[in-house]
Amino acid sequence: MITQILKVNSEDFDKVIKKAANILTKGDIVAFPTETVYGLGAHGLSSESVKKIFKAKNRPADNPLILHISNYKMLDDIVAENIQPYKEILNHFWPGPLTIILKKNSKVPSIITAKLSTVAVRMPANKVALALIEKCGFCLAAPSANLSGRPSPTYAKMVYSDLNGRIPLIIDGGSCHLGLESTVLDLSSERPRILRPGIITFEELQPFLPDLVRSFSGEIEKNLSPGMKYKHYKPDVNIIVINSLKDILEAKKKFKVSKICIISLEQIKTDEEVLIYDNTEQLSKNLYRDFYELEKKGYDLICIKKFESKGIGKALNNRIKKAADYIF
Ligand code: TXA
Ligand code: MG
Repeated sequence: MITQILKVNSEDFDKVIKKAANILTKGDIVAFPTETVYGLGAHGLSSESVKKIFKAKNRPADNPLILHISNYKMLDDIVAENIQPYKEILNHFWPGPLTIILKKNSKVPSIITAKLSTVAVRMPANKVALALIEKCGFCLAAPSANLSGRPSPTYAKMVYSDLNGRIPLIIDGGSCHLGLESTVLDLSSERPRILRPGIITFEELQPFLPDLVRSFSGEIEKNLSPGMKYKHYKPDVNIIVINSLKDILEAKKKFKVSKICIISLEQIKTDEEVLIYDNTEQLSKNLYRDFYELEKKGYDLICIKKFESKGIGKALNNRIKKAADYIF
């Protein structure tokens, strides 16, 4: 299969969206940009189409997918509950990097939810993604557009590198604005809880959900969000999570490496190469891109210092720990 990449710009925006929507309507799959990471989309209510996502990504069947919508009617159409009580929180965070889990209705094929009785839904804040879903007129099932286990792609070249020959079309909408996957919020249990931390933080959600479970627990995450038990976000470079610069010396011995890069929020005195970011937002935006580019440049070790466990730091710690070969 030949994989076409189509750039979206103002002149041919409608043309590209129309072409992609045609492919999706026929039951095939298309990679498209969102504000978090690139997604690999298929008709969200068609088991046959969704099967193609699992095949193209080598994704394990017990890892459920998120349905992407462009309006509230699409949400109403797929869940088994009244959405009115959730309108306040959704109006605040949607479109945006928040995925909610609610009880599903019978229209949602079990392949999407890995046989769970709940479904994950998100309205992305990206012009291309919203226009595409709107043009299709149906919701799009879309995991991140990488081979299973690899870093989520945050620009079109990363998608191409993983999925070239496996999908017919990539819509190139430039770099993703946020760079980390959405926060996954379970609203189907007795108390709301975060199953995957993201750019929308506990601190931001709590005022809307006074009952929100305080601590994010990896154990809860593993049990309730089946996908989270797998190795994730991992380039073909060793990654270690360090507490201090001293750990780098030890890591060098352990891994017998030569080409090292440190990703950091602080200036550090070292002879090694360092990528420094001003804040957690900047670092989040570039983390997967750096993983990919350092891999391509032949680095054999990436060192990242643990983040302060608050705000976006929680999401960053979650991702780097999952990607890590060793944690100090
Ligand atoms: O930002 C994002 O969320 C991106 C973009 C493309 O929207 N998508 C994404 O999808 O990260 P994916 O498939 O890589 O991650 C979906 C996560 C997995 O951890 C999965 O286990 C969880 O959502 N999930 C999906 N349905 C669920 C459900 N019914 N109950 C619990 N967890 C669920
Ligand atoms: Mg993913």
